[in-house]
Amino acid sequence: MKKTQIKILNIVGARPNFMKIAPIHRLMQVSNKIEPILVHTGQHYDQKMSKIFFNDLEMPEPQIYLGVGSGSHAEQTGKVMIELEKIALKLQPDLVLVVGDVNSTLAASLVAAKLHIPIAHVEAGLRSFDRNMPEEINRIVTDSVADFLFVTEENGRKNLLTEGVSNDKIFFVGNVMIDSLLHFQKKAKNSNILNLLKLKHKSYALVTLHRPSNVDSQKSIVKILSAFEKIEKKIPIVFPIHPRTKKMIEQMDLGDRVTSMQNFKLVEPLGYLDFLHLMDNAAFLLTDSGGIQEETTVLGIPCITLRENTERPVTVDLGTNVIVGMDTEKIINESSKILSGTFKKGQIPPLWDGKTAKRIIEIIENKFVS
Ligand code: UD1
Repeated sequence: MKKTQIKILNIVGARPNFMKIAPIHRLMQVSNKIEPILVHTGQHYDQKMSKIFFNDLEMPEPQIYLGVGSGSHAEQTGKVMIELEKIALKLQPDLVLVVGDVNSTLAASLVAAKLHIPIAHVEAGLRSFDRNMPEEINRIVTDSVADFLFVTEENGRKNLLTEGVSNDKIFFVGNVMIDSLLHFQKKAKNSNILNLLKLKHKSYALVTLHRPSNVDSQKSIVKILSAFEKIEKKIPIVFPIHPRTKKMIEQMDLGDRVTSMQNFKLVEPLGYLDFLHLMDNAAFLLTDSGGIQEETTVLGIPCITLRENTERPVTVDLGTNVIVGMDTEKIINESSKILSGTFKKGQIPPLWDGKTAKRIIEIIENKFVS
């Protein structure tokens, strides 16, 4: 039966969730048909991994903070489930909305499914077909229990149909992370980060690296560092370092190798606006992030992805992304192509237009609200 107003738990936990929830939560707050409740699991908790994003993305304080923190996969997932179940039982939401593929996404989906609360998954259907990635397990399980599967690219629908998901649960709405990018791109231009780091427009490469498959293995990290040692001779490299990567470099005693590179600048993790500005002005990106493959495609900035696969193939088919794995020579070759101006040009994928949150909310309202 349809209601006049519905209660939705919007779940966030880790850094890549914040820019996906922000536009959805903002629009829900001005809808008289929806009462949105922002729940932060606390998977990421440092000022630089969490709070700064709330400020930059103009998000309100979460109404509920579960404070689960770091831990093994089972610990983290289990803690979110135990705490969120209590909240869900108390608040009796009509829908739980999850985004992306982090452990908090999986945990919240399992809680809702067991309590028979409908689930909306934003960024459904992406598949790397690599079950060694913790995110791939999170995606598959979340999609198998979700009721509304909002996909960013048609490949998402194809993957879900192959897995037996019924087509009437799948909605191609575009990319909500791009809503945030387009909304904040102008504001990000006020960032002082280029001056602070003494960088000039298009005169540096920007690196992010945090995947366990890259940074938890000495062999992989050394292959990537060997490429950076060549590239930094041609163009300065800036690397806002993720806490996981920092910890691994220290544990593996690779600190000296990193600091001996003259043109390699290590900086603390950056907030949303500073990072967006840094990305927008970079000559190119070297990354193992999922979201950055999409953001660079929209910004038209070349992206070299340091992974063996991508769950976001439209960024390669249409966008500015190339996949090179951990192959030192390939990383150097693709960087040289960019520096010599022979790298491919991209185009923006369909519906990555800044209006995705609006489409999602219309679909939810039509389904639940009279
Ligand atoms: C998580 C997500 C990954 C996402 C990434 C973005 C999962 C399985 N992985 O990986 O998909 O791309 O976030 O950052 O959910 N730490 C801190 N401060 C924090 C949070 C973490 O220092 O605020 C350190 C801790 O040592 C922790 C480690 O980072 O053990 C890893 O954190 P965790 O949340 O387990 O996974 P990420 O590698 O951040």
